[in-house]
Amino acid sequence: MFRLAWLRELIGEPANGRTMQPPELAGMRFAPGPVLIAYASQTGVAEDLAAAAREQLRGAGVTSRVADFEALDRAMLETASQALFLASTTYDGDPPEMANTFSRMTMAQPASLAHLRYGLLALGDHGYADFRAFGRALDAWLAASGAQAWFPRIEVDDEDAAALERWHAQVAALAATVAMQGDNSFPTERPA
Ligand SMILES: Cc1cc2nc3c(=O)[nH]c(=O)nc-3n(C[C@H](O)[C@H](O)[C@H](O)COP(=O)(O)O)c2cc1C
Repeated sequence: MFRLAWLRELIGEPANGRTMQPPELAGMRFAPGPVLIAYASQTGVAEDLAAAAREQLRGAGVTSRVADFEALDRAMLETASQALFLASTTYDGDPPEMANTFSRMTMAQPASLAHLRYGLLALGDHGYADFRAFGRALDAWLAASGAQAWFPRIEVDDEDAAALERWHAQVAALAATVAMQGDNSFPTERPA
Protein backbone atom coordinates (compact mmCIF):
# COMPACT_ATOMS: atom_id res chain seq x y z
CA MET A 1 0.00 0.00 0.00
CA PHE A 2 1.50 3.35 -1.04
CA ARG A 3 1.40 6.25 1.39
CA LEU A 4 1.24 8.72 -1.49
CA ALA A 5 -1.99 8.70 -3.46
CA TRP A 6 -0.44 10.16 -6.60
CA LEU A 7 1.91 7.18 -6.88
CA ARG A 8 -1.00 4.92 -7.68
CA GLU A 9 -1.98 7.19 -10.53
CA LEU A 10 1.61 7.53 -11.67
CA ILE A 11 2.15 3.82 -12.15
CA GLY A 12 -1.30 3.19 -13.62
CA GLU A 13 -2.42 3.95 -17.15
CA PRO A 14 -1.78 7.60 -17.97
CA ALA A 15 -4.94 9.62 -17.42
CA ASN A 16 -6.60 11.72 -20.15
CA GLY A 17 -5.17 9.62 -22.98
CA ARG A 18 -1.66 11.00 -22.58
CA THR A 19 0.96 8.60 -23.86
CA MET A 20 4.29 8.20 -22.09
CA GLN A 21 7.25 8.44 -24.42
CA PRO A 22 9.75 6.00 -22.98
CA PRO A 23 13.36 6.98 -23.57
CA GLU A 24 15.51 4.83 -25.77
CA LEU A 25 17.17 1.78 -24.24
CA ALA A 26 17.13 -0.09 -27.53
CA GLY A 27 20.15 -2.21 -28.27
CA MET A 28 21.05 -2.73 -24.61
CA ARG A 29 21.57 -6.28 -23.47
CA PHE A 30 20.54 -7.22 -19.98
CA ALA A 31 22.14 -10.01 -18.00
CA PRO A 32 19.85 -12.56 -16.39
CA GLY A 33 19.05 -12.01 -12.75
CA PRO A 34 16.60 -9.82 -10.85
CA VAL A 35 16.76 -6.05 -11.09
CA LEU A 36 17.98 -4.80 -7.71
CA ILE A 37 15.89 -1.88 -6.42
CA ALA A 38 17.76 -0.18 -3.56
CA TYR A 39 16.32 2.73 -1.61
CA ALA A 40 17.62 5.11 1.03
CA SER A 41 14.66 6.85 2.64
CA GLN A 42 14.11 8.87 5.80
CA THR A 43 10.39 9.65 5.70
CA GLY A 44 9.12 7.05 3.20
CA VAL A 45 8.95 8.79 -0.18
CA ALA A 46 11.87 6.88 -1.74
CA GLU A 47 10.56 3.70 -0.17
CA ASP A 48 7.16 4.18 -1.80
CA LEU A 49 8.79 4.96 -5.13
CA ALA A 50 10.86 1.77 -4.83
CA ALA A 51 7.66 -0.22 -4.27
CA ALA A 52 6.10 1.52 -7.28
CA ALA A 53 9.12 0.65 -9.45
CA ARG A 54 8.84 -2.96 -8.34
CA GLU A 55 5.18 -2.98 -9.29
CA GLN A 56 5.97 -1.49 -12.69
CA LEU A 57 8.60 -4.15 -13.34
CA ARG A 58 6.34 -6.93 -12.09
CA GLY A 59 3.59 -5.70 -14.40
CA ALA A 60 5.94 -6.23 -17.33
CA GLY A 61 6.94 -9.69 -16.06
CA VAL A 62 10.38 -8.52 -14.90
CA THR A 63 11.78 -10.01 -11.69
CA SER A 64 13.22 -7.62 -9.11
CA ARG A 65 14.31 -7.56 -5.49
CA VAL A 66 13.95 -4.58 -3.19
CA ALA A 67 16.55 -3.76 -0.52
CA ASP A 68 16.92 -0.80 1.76
CA PHE A 69 20.35 0.72 2.32
CA GLU A 70 20.53 -0.85 5.77
CA ALA A 71 20.65 -4.25 4.07
CA LEU A 72 22.64 -3.17 1.02
CA ASP A 73 26.29 -4.13 0.95
CA ARG A 74 29.13 -4.44 -1.49
CA ALA A 75 28.46 -8.16 -2.09
CA MET A 76 24.87 -7.45 -3.20
CA LEU A 77 26.12 -4.88 -5.67
CA GLU A 78 28.86 -7.13 -6.94
CA THR A 79 26.35 -9.89 -7.74
CA ALA A 80 23.68 -7.63 -9.31
CA SER A 81 23.83 -6.86 -13.02
CA GLN A 82 21.22 -4.15 -13.07
CA ALA A 83 19.93 -1.85 -10.38
CA LEU A 84 17.68 1.08 -9.66
CA PHE A 85 18.71 3.42 -6.82
CA LEU A 86 16.37 5.81 -5.06
CA ALA A 87 18.16 8.06 -2.62
CA SER A 88 16.87 10.94 -0.54
CA THR A 89 18.87 13.45 1.51
CA THR A 90 18.10 14.52 5.04
CA TYR A 91 19.22 16.91 7.79
CA ASP A 92 22.23 18.93 6.63
CA GLY A 93 22.87 17.12 3.37
CA ASP A 94 23.21 13.78 5.17
CA PRO A 95 22.16 10.38 3.90
CA PRO A 96 19.01 8.93 5.45
CA GLU A 97 19.84 7.12 8.69
CA MET A 98 19.41 3.72 7.06
CA ALA A 99 22.27 4.63 4.69
CA ASN A 100 24.73 5.90 7.28
CA THR A 101 26.84 2.76 7.42
CA PHE A 102 26.80 2.28 3.65
CA SER A 103 27.81 5.88 3.15
CA ARG A 104 30.55 5.82 5.76
CA MET A 105 31.99 2.36 5.11
CA THR A 106 31.10 1.11 1.62
CA MET A 107 31.38 4.47 -0.11
CA ALA A 108 34.69 5.23 1.57
CA GLN A 109 36.44 3.79 -1.46
CA PRO A 110 35.41 2.72 -4.96
CA ALA A 111 34.11 -0.83 -5.49
CA SER A 112 34.48 -3.02 -8.60
CA LEU A 113 31.16 -2.49 -10.32
CA ALA A 114 32.05 -2.43 -14.02
CA HIS A 115 29.41 -5.13 -14.59
CA LEU A 116 26.60 -3.01 -13.11
CA ARG A 117 24.12 -0.92 -15.12
CA TYR A 118 21.90 1.40 -13.14
CA GLY A 119 19.39 4.20 -12.98
CA LEU A 120 19.31 6.67 -10.10
CA LEU A 121 16.67 8.95 -8.64
CA ALA A 122 17.93 11.62 -6.20
CA LEU A 123 15.26 13.15 -3.97
CA GLY A 124 15.60 16.41 -2.12
CA ASP A 125 14.29 19.87 -1.56
CA HIS A 126 16.03 23.01 -2.82
CA GLY A 127 15.01 24.78 0.39
CA TYR A 128 17.85 22.96 2.11
CA ALA A 129 21.48 23.93 1.74
CA ASP A 130 22.85 20.64 0.42
CA PHE A 131 20.33 19.95 -2.26
CA ARG A 132 20.11 16.21 -3.14
CA ALA A 133 23.60 15.74 -1.73
CA PHE A 134 23.38 12.03 -0.95
CA GLY A 135 21.91 11.08 -4.34
CA ARG A 136 24.67 13.02 -6.04
CA ALA A 137 27.37 11.45 -3.87
CA LEU A 138 25.98 7.98 -4.54
CA ASP A 139 25.93 8.60 -8.28
CA ALA A 140 29.53 9.84 -8.19
CA TRP A 141 30.60 6.79 -6.17
CA LEU A 142 28.87 4.39 -8.59
CA ALA A 143 30.60 6.07 -11.53
CA ALA A 144 33.98 5.96 -9.73
CA SER A 145 33.33 2.25 -9.14
CA GLY A 146 32.92 1.65 -12.88
CA ALA A 147 29.14 1.21 -12.94
CA GLN A 148 27.40 2.65 -16.00
CA ALA A 149 24.24 4.69 -15.87
CA TRP A 150 21.45 3.91 -18.32
CA PHE A 151 20.35 7.52 -18.23
CA PRO A 152 21.52 10.70 -16.48
CA ARG A 153 20.58 10.93 -12.80
CA ILE A 154 17.03 12.20 -12.33
CA GLU A 155 16.71 14.78 -9.56
CA VAL A 156 13.43 15.45 -7.80
CA ASP A 157 12.85 18.74 -6.04
CA ASP A 158 10.16 18.32 -3.40
CA GLU A 159 8.26 15.56 -5.21
CA ASP A 160 8.20 17.50 -8.49
CA ALA A 161 5.68 15.70 -10.72
CA ALA A 162 7.54 16.28 -14.01
CA ALA A 163 10.75 14.72 -12.68
CA LEU A 164 8.82 11.78 -11.26
CA GLU A 165 7.12 11.28 -14.58
CA ARG A 166 10.53 11.17 -16.28
CA TRP A 167 11.61 8.54 -13.76
CA HIS A 168 8.42 6.56 -14.32
CA ALA A 169 9.02 6.65 -18.08
CA GLN A 170 12.59 5.39 -17.64
CA VAL A 171 11.47 2.52 -15.41
CA ALA A 172 8.75 1.66 -17.95
CA ALA A 173 11.32 1.65 -20.76
CA LEU A 174 13.67 -0.50 -18.70
CA ALA A 175 10.85 -2.92 -17.91
CA ALA A 176 9.86 -3.17 -21.56
CA THR A 177 13.45 -3.69 -22.71
CA VAL A 178 14.24 -6.37 -20.12
CA ALA A 179 10.91 -8.09 -20.79
CA MET A 180 11.61 -8.18 -24.53
CA GLN A 181 14.76 -10.16 -23.82
CA GLY A 182 12.82 -12.91 -22.02
CA ASP A 183 12.66 -14.19 -18.46
CA ASN A 184 15.27 -12.32 -16.40
CA SER A 185 15.00 -14.49 -13.29
CA PHE A 186 17.75 -16.95 -12.54
CA PRO A 187 16.88 -20.52 -13.52
CA THR A 188 15.53 -22.27 -10.43
CA GLU A 189 16.09 -25.81 -11.64
CA ARG A 190 19.04 -27.31 -13.38
CA PRO A 191 18.27 -29.46 -16.41
CA ALA A 192 18.55 -33.21 -15.62
C1 LIG B 1 14.29 17.18 8.37
C2 LIG B 1 14.52 17.18 6.88
C3 LIG B 1 15.76 17.54 6.40
C4 LIG B 1 16.00 17.58 5.02
N1 LIG B 1 17.24 17.94 4.56
C5 LIG B 1 17.47 17.98 3.23
C6 LIG B 1 18.75 18.37 2.72
O1 LIG B 1 19.70 18.67 3.45
N2 LIG B 1 18.92 18.41 1.36
C7 LIG B 1 17.90 18.09 0.49
O2 LIG B 1 18.11 18.16 -0.73
N3 LIG B 1 16.67 17.71 0.95
C8 LIG B 1 16.44 17.66 2.28
N4 LIG B 1 15.20 17.28 2.75
C9 LIG B 1 14.12 16.97 1.77
C10 LIG B 1 13.95 15.47 1.53
O3 LIG B 1 15.09 14.91 0.89
C11 LIG B 1 12.74 15.27 0.62
O4 LIG B 1 11.59 15.67 1.33
C12 LIG B 1 12.59 13.81 0.17
O5 LIG B 1 11.52 13.71 -0.73
C13 LIG B 1 12.37 12.88 1.33
O6 LIG B 1 12.44 11.55 0.87
P1 LIG B 1 12.30 10.33 1.90
O7 LIG B 1 10.92 10.41 2.46
O8 LIG B 1 12.49 9.10 1.07
O9 LIG B 1 13.34 10.48 2.94
C14 LIG B 1 14.96 17.23 4.12
C15 LIG B 1 13.70 16.87 4.62
C16 LIG B 1 13.48 16.84 5.98
C17 LIG B 1 12.11 16.45 6.48
